[in-house]
Amino acid sequence: MAILITGGAGYIGSHTMVEFLNAGRELVVVDNFLNSKPCALERVKQITGKDFKFYEVDLLDKEALERVVCENGIDSCIHFAGLKAVGESCQKPLWYYHNNITGTLNLCEVLQKYNAKRIVFSSSATVYGNPSSVPITEDFPLSTTNPYGETKLMIERILKDLHTSDPEWSISILRYFNPIGAHKSGLIGEDPQGIPNNLLPYITQVAAGRRERLSVFGNDYNTPDGTGVRDYIHVVDLARAHLKAIERAEKITGVEHFNIGTGVGYSVLDIVHAYEKATGIAIPYQITPRRPGDIDECYANPAKAAEILGWKAEYNIEDMCRDAYNWQLKNPRGYDD
Ligand code: NAD
Ligand code: UFG
Repeated sequence: MAILITGGAGYIGSHTMVEFLNAGRELVVVDNFLNSKPCALERVKQITGKDFKFYEVDLLDKEALERVVCENGIDSCIHFAGLKAVGESCQKPLWYYHNNITGTLNLCEVLQKYNAKRIVFSSSATVYGNPSSVPITEDFPLSTTNPYGETKLMIERILKDLHTSDPEWSISILRYFNPIGAHKSGLIGEDPQGIPNNLLPYITQVAAGRRERLSVFGNDYNTPDGTGVRDYIHVVDLARAHLKAIERAEKITGVEHFNIGTGVGYSVLDIVHAYEKATGIAIPYQITPRRPGDIDECYANPAKAAEILGWKAEYNIEDMCRDAYNWQLKNPRGYDD
């Protein structure tokens, strides 16, 4: 039986495919390349020496999606496909709601019809809103501050209702903290279009000389050095969590939520210094005003994933910075090279 991967050409999807193919899993992949390139899939083949079926399908095209599921004996799904930029979601909320929610509804309807009632969903720490304390456990109150986060929370609720209505479903909701880094081969990595929104891709482009200096968004947060604190996790560690999640979903039914983070918070300046140490390259920066919507601190208590999934992050912050830089060095313009 094959596993359907939605959004497999994307940053996290491509790294997860490598782990699944190396584990001998049969994969069928769909992506519409809204935010990715076919080259990422070729690179996955290059790294693993393994093949998989790919369909250029939009989740909004339910008939095409149904054909893929029907033809391939799909029995479970890892669902990455979605739009993910917070700022863009505020400018184009209808697009975000339509793509992320309708796409997921189509997917669940098709999976249910073909009795493939097993799904691992890419949620986000954004569903914890502005947490009242850290580290965050899975039972913290949920709230969101932007349409992107709203789609994640809505999908979590849809999946819970789906299981209530049909207890045969096995649903694993992974709440990712801040994925960074790249596969150690340097063949796949994060390939942001235009000016990066996120910290690590921006620093990486400064290190490569593509941008002059980093803007540190505020140094008056309630944190040890005043800059925002986050839980950065190596994308390969994150990818491996999906393998553990699907193995568990193959054994039990139900809905479970897991924080996927390291449990360690690093400030923006910690990251700048770790990057400098890992690469030997100075990262010029300036302090600028806060970015609207940013919070002081966000890091996980990942104990539930350790206890139930048997998963724990293995890479440290310098590994993450080194691998991000290695990807940048080998692909100065991302997959366009
Ligand atoms: P990404 O943009 O690199 O990958 C998403 C993939 O989904 C892309 O290849 C895109 O082309 C595809 N896609 C989007 N809409 C589609 C549709 N309607 N039909 C078919 N394919 C479609 O993003 P990523 O960083 O790999 O994130 C994967 C998932 O994890 C997303 O759901 C994202 O919201 C979630 N997530 C990401 C982060 C992060 O910081 N990267 C953090 C938390 C959660
Ligand atoms: N930051 C800067 N300068 C930059 C970019 C970011 O100082 O150029 C700071 C931010 O203010 C924040 C930290 O670096 O303190 C991390 O910012 P990111 O944009 O890299 O990540 P966020 O924590 O804001 O958000 C990310 C994803 C969200 C997701 C969230 C939790 O972008 O989609 O992690 O998973 F919801």
